[in-house]
Amino acid sequence: MPNQESKKSCKFFAPKVFIRTFGCQMNVRDSEVIAGLLTTNDYRLTTSADKADVIILNTCSVRQHAEDKVWSEIGRFKRTQRPIIGVVGCMAQNYKDEIFQHAPNVDFVVGPSDIAKIPQILHKLSTIHYPLATKIWETDGGLRPEEVYHTGFYADRAHAYVVISEGCLNFCSYCVVPYVRGALRNRDYENIIREIEEAVAKGITRITLLGQNVNAYESPGHSPQSRVSFARLLEMVNNIPGLKEFSFVTSHPKDTTIELFKAMQELEKLKKYLHLPVQSGSDKILKLMNRGYTRKFYLELVENYRKIIKKGALTTDIIVGFPTETERDFQDTYDLVKDVGFAAAYIFKYSPRPHTAAAKMGDDVPQEEKERRHALILNLQKKISKNKQCYLGF
Ligand code: 5AD
Ligand code: SF4
Repeated sequence: MPNQESKKSCKFFAPKVFIRTFGCQMNVRDSEVIAGLLTTNDYRLTTSADKADVIILNTCSVRQHAEDKVWSEIGRFKRTQRPIIGVVGCMAQNYKDEIFQHAPNVDFVVGPSDIAKIPQILHKLSTIHYPLATKIWETDGGLRPEEVYHTGFYADRAHAYVVISEGCLNFCSYCVVPYVRGALRNRDYENIIREIEEAVAKGITRITLLGQNVNAYESPGHSPQSRVSFARLLEMVNNIPGLKEFSFVTSHPKDTTIELFKAMQELEKLKKYLHLPVQSGSDKILKLMNRGYTRKFYLELVENYRKIIKKGALTTDIIVGFPTETERDFQDTYDLVKDVGFAAAYIFKYSPRPHTAAAKMGDDVPQEEKERRHALILNLQKKISKNKQCYLGF
C-alpha cells in the first residue's frame, strides 16, 4: 500500500501502477520494495485502481478469510480496459499457476521470493497487445537479491520497516508461512546496517526490524566468531547516528531470553514494546501447535520481562478453536489472558490452511463455538486494554 504518488509523476507517459496490500507488516514492506523497483524502472504509482495501467495485489494466505478478500477483489477488476493484473505474495506461492484458472483476468503471478523479477515481467507483458494471451508465473522461491532492499522507497517519511530475515522453519502446525515464504534466511548484518544508514540519510528516524521470528536471527558468517546474534544486531542498530527510535516484531517465546530483555533495557533507542504471541494457554494445545514451550515457560518469561524492563508494553496473538480445543483448554487461554494483562491481544479464529499439519487434524470446533470463544476473549481484552495506558505505536 505505498499510498504516495510517485515523485516521478513528471514523467508524463510513464505507466501507472496501483498496489494494494493485504496482510502483515512483511507484506507492507514487500509492497514498498515492489514500488521501489518499479519507480526506479520508470513506472509511477497511483492511488486509483481505475486509472492504473498495472494493478498489483500483494496477498496474504494466513487465514481463509484473508484469501477470500483477495478473490473478491480480483473479481472486481473486470477486463474492460487494459490494466495488467498481477497477484503477488503468499497466495501467489500457495496457488501458483492455478490462480489463472480461478481468475482468468490475472496476467502474472509472483511469489514473495521472486518480486525482483516484476519489472522484467511487466516489460514482457506490456509489449503484448490486448487481449493478453500470455500468462507469466514465477514461484521458484530461494533468496531475494540484496539490491531489492536498497531502492530507498519507504511509504512513510520518518519511519521504515527493515527486513532482517525472510521465511520461517518453525512449522507451527497451523501456520502456512513456512510453505509460502520458505525456510528462514537471515540477511547479512552489514547489509541491514547499510540499509538503515541509507534510510537515515534520507530523513528516516524510526525503524521497525521485521522477521517472522526475529529472536532466531543470526547473521551468516564463515566462523562462529564472525556471526552476529540478534542482541548484538540490536546494539549495532542502537549505535547508528541519526536514528532516534527502533523496535522489532515478531518474537517467538521459545527463542526469547533474559539476555535479550537485559539488552532491551540497556539500549536507549530501543522501544521496550514486546509482541510475544502465546497462541494458547493450554499445554495440550501448545503441544499440538508445535510451539515448543509450555504455559509455565511463557508465564515465567512474562515475569522476567516485567522484572527487567521498566515501562514495557506486552502484546500477543491468540488462536481460538484449534482442533480438539475443549472448554477446559479454552478456559486455560482465557485465564492466561486475564492473569498476564496484555496491553493488546490479536485474537483469531482457527482456520485450516493447506499443507499444514493441523489441517490433517480435522476442524472439529464448530464455527459458532469459535465465535463465542473469540467474543469472550475479545471482551475480556477490551476491558484490560481500557485500564492500561500505554503507547503501542511502532
Ligand atoms: N488460523 C488462525 N490464525 C492463524 N494465525 C496464523 N495461522 C493461523 C491459522 N491457520 C495467527 C497467529 C499468528 C498470527 C499472525 O496469525 O496467531 O501469530
Ligand atoms: Fe508461522 Fe510459527 Fe513461523 Fe510464526 S513462528 S511464522 S506462527 S511457523
